[in-house]
Amino acid sequence: MTAPRTYHVITFGCQMNKADSERMAGILDEMGMQATEDPNSADVVLYNTCTIRDNAEQKVYSYLGRQAKRKQSQPDLTLIVAGCVAQQEGEQLLRRVPELDLVMGPQHANRLGDLLEQVFAGQQVVATEEIAIVEDITKPRRDSDVTAWVNVIYGCNERCTYCVVPGVRGVEQSRTPEAIRAEIEGLAQQGFKEITLLGQNIDAYGRDLPGSTADGRHQHTLTDLLYFIHDVPGIERIRFATSHPRYFTERLIRACAELPKVCEHFHIPFQSGDNEVLKAMARGYTEEKYRRIIAKIRELMPDASISADAIVGFPGETEEQFQNTLKLVEDLEFDLINTAAYSPRPGTPAAVWENQVSEAEKSDRLQRLNRLVEVQAMGRSQRYQGRIEEVLVEGANLKDPRQVMGRTRGNRLTFFAGDIAQLKGKTVPVQITEVRAFSLTGVALTPTLAAV
Ligand code: SAH
Ligand code: SF4
Ligand code: F3S
Repeated sequence: MTAPRTYHVITFGCQMNKADSERMAGILDEMGMQATEDPNSADVVLYNTCTIRDNAEQKVYSYLGRQAKRKQSQPDLTLIVAGCVAQQEGEQLLRRVPELDLVMGPQHANRLGDLLEQVFAGQQVVATEEIAIVEDITKPRRDSDVTAWVNVIYGCNERCTYCVVPGVRGVEQSRTPEAIRAEIEGLAQQGFKEITLLGQNIDAYGRDLPGSTADGRHQHTLTDLLYFIHDVPGIERIRFATSHPRYFTERLIRACAELPKVCEHFHIPFQSGDNEVLKAMARGYTEEKYRRIIAKIRELMPDASISADAIVGFPGETEEQFQNTLKLVEDLEFDLINTAAYSPRPGTPAAVWENQVSEAEKSDRLQRLNRLVEVQAMGRSQRYQGRIEEVLVEGANLKDPRQVMGRTRGNRLTFFAGDIAQLKGKTVPVQITEVRAFSLTGVALTPTLAAV
């Protein structure tokens, strides 16, 4: 077999998967392979998969089917399934798609090089055992050269009754503050301007590190981490996601208000606005607690953007309980909510409960919630009209090359006329002239343009 020369990575799922894909692409680069845009000519095709909802999983199978067929006529093609479907299905995936060469769970992402060596030696490999994640010595191939993900905590110790993540991502493993800071310093040296600290429950960061105390007064918390990394020269913006209401503290909000590089945006899923549903979900907080968190943010950071995730049609959810979700949304005013109809997942408790809500009811509730979300996002966008916002330019507007695209500190996608060659990576004051529910358009203020 000749050595594979080109590879193609296809990523499904959340930011964690995107970050893993960038690291795996980095490993393939280091092995001397080249990225190609065309999956159908690549020698190595890697699917980094997601199983959070059934439709995410099914998408993978339909893609895989096509590549498996190609392999029948091109036996040298190397097919890899990584990520959460790989972890969930393991060996079974080989039975379903025998053409696969490598099935590897998310905890094995950094081991891709070793695993591929075994494949090239002629083995079919399944790597899904739970392991301590190897500290990252790979050089990720980042999709952006302005903003970068930085993993700070892997895994999840919660047991929400609908969710596959603890099963596929394993227990919480925090990286040390020193390792995190070293990665951020490296990013700054390469010219990155913005970092997003990543974790399934980012605010649970540090609970597993030595030196943490069992009494809830941890030395290593997300708040401490923000202070620890804040002064890395060259980094202009710091974001973090996703926050879990259980671990969210007033101290964290105060740190965000105080630290100039930390952007005014919080992503804190509430899932449901009804206490009984929250209890059945095993979320570990009440809607009152959630409201108190948001009230505290509004008090200390009145202009902060707030986004969330919500699930409709959880087993047993009545119309009245769904109304409580609508009510929570109406009262709190979100900038964005990722909404989803409940999807029963294999191996999760709620999937086998008998009180499932019908598909028709779920999709009706989803539509009603989505309407409210859009109206509300539009309302929240209005506050930007005429204002001057700092926009960090990330790239060209793909739909209009005369425009560039970036984000406000509050995470609103913003477009304005300009030359990407000049503006990439620059923070530009932009006067907002047009607002839409989920994006803005503006004009760059001239003094800065002259300065760049
Ligand atoms: N750790 C984060 C969320 C991670 S999963 C948290 O707890 O907030 C991302 C989102 O997927 C969740 O917030 C939830 O809204 C959604 N989700 C997870 N499992 C789901 C399921 N079985 N059906 C529908 N949506 C689901
Ligand atoms: Fe899933 Fe709950 Fe963990 Fe979030 S906290 S990843 S929803 S189990
Ligand atoms: Fe999906 Fe795995 Fe993320 S299931 S949402 S890719 S943790």
